[in-house]
Amino acid sequence: MRREAERRAAELRRLIEEANYRYYVLDAPSLPDAEYDRLYRELEAIEAAYPELRTADSPTRRVGGQAVAAFAPVRHAVPMLSIRTETNSEPEGALAFDARMRRELGLAADDPPVEYACELKFDGLAISLRYQHGVLVQAATRGDGETGEDVTHNVRTIRCVPLWLKTDAPPDLLEARGEVFMTRADFERYNARQRASGGTPLVNPRNGAAGSIRQLDPALAAQRPLYFFAYGLGETRGWRLPETHGAVLDQLAAWGLPVNCDRAVVRGGAALIDFHRSIGQRRADIPFDIDGVVYKVNRLDLQARLGFVSREPRWAVAHKYPAQEELTLVEAIEVNVGRTGALTPVARLKPVFVGGVTVSNATLHNQDEIDRKDVRVGDWVIVRRAGDVIPEVVQVVTERRPPGTEPYSILAHYPTCPVCGSRVAREAGEAVTRCTGGLYCPAQRKQALLHFASRRAMDIEGLGEKLVDQLVERELVHSPADLYRLDHATLAGLERMAGKSAANLLAAIDKSRHTTLARFIHALGISNVGETTAKDLARHFGRLDALLAADAATLMQVPDVGPVVAQSIVDFFAETHNREVIERLRDPAVGGVRWPEHEGSSAVAGPLAGKTVVLTGTLPSLSREAAKAMIEAAGGKVAGSVSKKTDYVVAGAEAGSKLTKAQELAVMVLDEAELLALINTGTQT
Ligand code: IVH
Repeated sequence: MRREAERRAAELRRLIEEANYRYYVLDAPSLPDAEYDRLYRELEAIEAAYPELRTADSPTRRVGGQAVAAFAPVRHAVPMLSIRTETNSEPEGALAFDARMRRELGLAADDPPVEYACELKFDGLAISLRYQHGVLVQAATRGDGETGEDVTHNVRTIRCVPLWLKTDAPPDLLEARGEVFMTRADFERYNARQRASGGTPLVNPRNGAAGSIRQLDPALAAQRPLYFFAYGLGETRGWRLPETHGAVLDQLAAWGLPVNCDRAVVRGGAALIDFHRSIGQRRADIPFDIDGVVYKVNRLDLQARLGFVSREPRWAVAHKYPAQEELTLVEAIEVNVGRTGALTPVARLKPVFVGGVTVSNATLHNQDEIDRKDVRVGDWVIVRRAGDVIPEVVQVVTERRPPGTEPYSILAHYPTCPVCGSRVAREAGEAVTRCTGGLYCPAQRKQALLHFASRRAMDIEGLGEKLVDQLVERELVHSPADLYRLDHATLAGLERMAGKSAANLLAAIDKSRHTTLARFIHALGISNVGETTAKDLARHFGRLDALLAADAATLMQVPDVGPVVAQSIVDFFAETHNREVIERLRDPAVGGVRWPEHEGSSAVAGPLAGKTVVLTGTLPSLSREAAKAMIEAAGGKVAGSVSKKTDYVVAGAEAGSKLTKAQELAVMVLDEAELLALINTGTQT
């Protein structure tokens, strides 16, 4: 039995790590999530039954692990150096580097061009991964270059870092060096969650990565998704080095280490400029922050000849791009009025070149964010613009604050709406400050129309901001229903509209008449009802009239609809004006908007049919997405918060307030194994 368990455990570890490699390094998943989860659980079960089979390199060690009191120092046998930055802007920087290399190598003008390896300069945290006989034994930060910190437990949670090298003949010792970083999308997602739960957002992805790696508790580190790319070597033993840096990276990639594919081996200074320029053009499309590119002399023997100046190699240089964070002055704080009447504060900045464009406005989100950062008119602030993300004030440089500034209050500056003059209010417990003018307010009307027409709502292609501005300002459109009464002559008479574009728009409006109930509900722009809630409502009620007739108690039977959302819906439909617009929209003689109607139901066959489940904490093996998918496949619905309607709460490690709430409400609490038993057999264990 034990022999068989040992064999199977080894096999499972191989299969799981192979799947991790394909998923996280190659970005080409080889197993369905459910199968991966099954293998993982099988391995966990074996390791639970035979604790002595629990190896240090088991994929189950990627989660959890003991928190440490402090990081142990790690001495780097080969120091971790930094590289010199070429400060000249292109093309001089690259040409100067090439000229210097030729000079130092003693090349004459008619000698062939030098070969360079070009790479991205990742903006994260340098890490050295130590593999002994192919097994990951240690991960260390750079520290001062001589001595770093042992962060093995946290680096293990990074799924793309292989726990062992994919080879039967690994070097005796290999230190792969590279950068740990967070993608911008993960950074944004993490911050959105933090803001929603009242937590502290991260300043930028680099701090996110650094903070996670230097986190003493690996369970917390694992909550921030990180990636790693290898770009070089530290100490190695028992390996005949290839001849070039490019070949070193190829070998690391062949062993399963993540190596970024945006790299090239080129010849001569002009090719460096081309690389810098072509990456620069795509900078916003690269899913993580880079602050430049790196050029390295490709041949290792030439690198050895060039050697080092103080703490920097002579054979490498970083060629930077314009910074994505800059310092500037807040000249004023004003507000924009949004679709739901929310007054979004905007910092008017002394124009500054950041992230490749001149920025003169940055969002301040809401009053809570202003308070948290304590942004004041007259402050010097760090603004950040990365990719297509809206420029944001990251923090105030309080040391530079002039005397006489005052904390900023939206309500004090805008007791009334700057667009329509209606009263402005902030409900207790709400983050947003709102104009109470509703659709009387032209700003809200414009935003409401743009939302109505947006892709995930009624999807009216071509109805953009410029057009909506004109339609509202010329009083051609007061409510969405009016859109369906526009004619060709009216549209063709607007600025920037030719006969053809007017015809296209009319066709797009006509096409939007065929829609779904979910899109229609979403398009109405009810506060607190986003796309997901709209879908839930459509599924639950099936027909619009059933939704219109529902009171708050009925609405709260819909999963994830709590008292706040229910009240928003009731309030919205209680407005005669809104009812009229809906009637006109679906009146065949006016709007003619229609969708297939059916009886509402949430019943999907399966062991969890009709059940609402809430997930909390970190489950031992299932990711949140995997757990959600399994529950939904079993006919259940996953909700975000615990209420009396919740049937089960599935709790993992670090479960917090949701677990407490479940206990208070006497909701059945399951662990992962119990959930799986329920799904697999339909029985409660
Ligand atoms: S090579 C001996 N390559 O930039 C040369 N560094 O100041 C060692 N970095 O601390 C560095 N991307 O964290 C190299 N493709 C890349 C890099 C890179 C980012 C970081 C690294 C280092 C710093 C250099």
